[in-house]
Amino acid sequence: MAGRFECFEQPSALAGRVAELLHQELSGGLMRPLGLATGRTMEPVYAALVARLLALPPDQLNAVRQRWCSFNLDEYVGLGPTDCGSFAAEMDRQLVGPLGLEPARVQLPDGLAADPVAEARRYAEAVGAAGGIGLQLLGLGSNGHVGFNEPPCGPHAPSRSLSLSAATRRQNAAAFGGDPARVPAGAITLGLEQILGAERILLVVSGAAKAGILARLLREPPGPSLPASWLQGHPGLRLIVDRAALEG
Ligand code: GLP
Repeated sequence: MAGRFECFEQPSALAGRVAELLHQELSGGLMRPLGLATGRTMEPVYAALVARLLALPPDQLNAVRQRWCSFNLDEYVGLGPTDCGSFAAEMDRQLVGPLGLEPARVQLPDGLAADPVAEARRYAEAVGAAGGIGLQLLGLGSNGHVGFNEPPCGPHAPSRSLSLSAATRRQNAAAFGGDPARVPAGAITLGLEQILGAERILLVVSGAAKAGILARLLREPPGPSLPASWLQGHPGLRLIVDRAALEG
């Protein structure tokens, strides 16, 4: 697999490194939008980022607030910011609130849109109108999905509204009282087309539960059964993992 690769012994060191890279991105000159992800992998990453940013002198923290522009990968259909299982609520809890960001600077697909198909199209257009993603942060689904691009999935999959697989609803059940049936059945996601259109990609894989899918990703050539495998050909890919994810 091409691209830069880093492995950390401890999950906390991995989170600190990813936070450092995000901080660098947010401190740069002309910034293209950040692509953000949610999920358990990102919780310690965002906590580390918040700690770094809140330790800055007030003028530097304000500069970060002023230049912040991000687009999340995905959202559940039927959930809005006031639903605690929504990705919008996750972003509020983990970044918007603690950093005092203007909510409009942190965009997500609208899970409450009356027409999710049209919302997926509108959202992709908004990403394009903002100049496309500079740095895209990604977690890895246990079935190889990125965003909610479920297998099988080709590299040109557009942003869309889709049904979630049973595997993904099981993976994400913890945020819904542990009950996969309570995980919404549908989602809106940026497509692999938009993800692969990012200038740089930061794929973060943490924990022994991801060892099987990471081993496949490192071994298999690109193909539709493993959506993340299409990242392999991206010239700006950086893969950051911890020892547990690498060795199980
Ligand atoms: C979820 C999300 C992804 C996330 C991935 C890994 O379903 N749609 O954006 O990165 O799966 O989640 P986790 O970090 O909780 O393992």
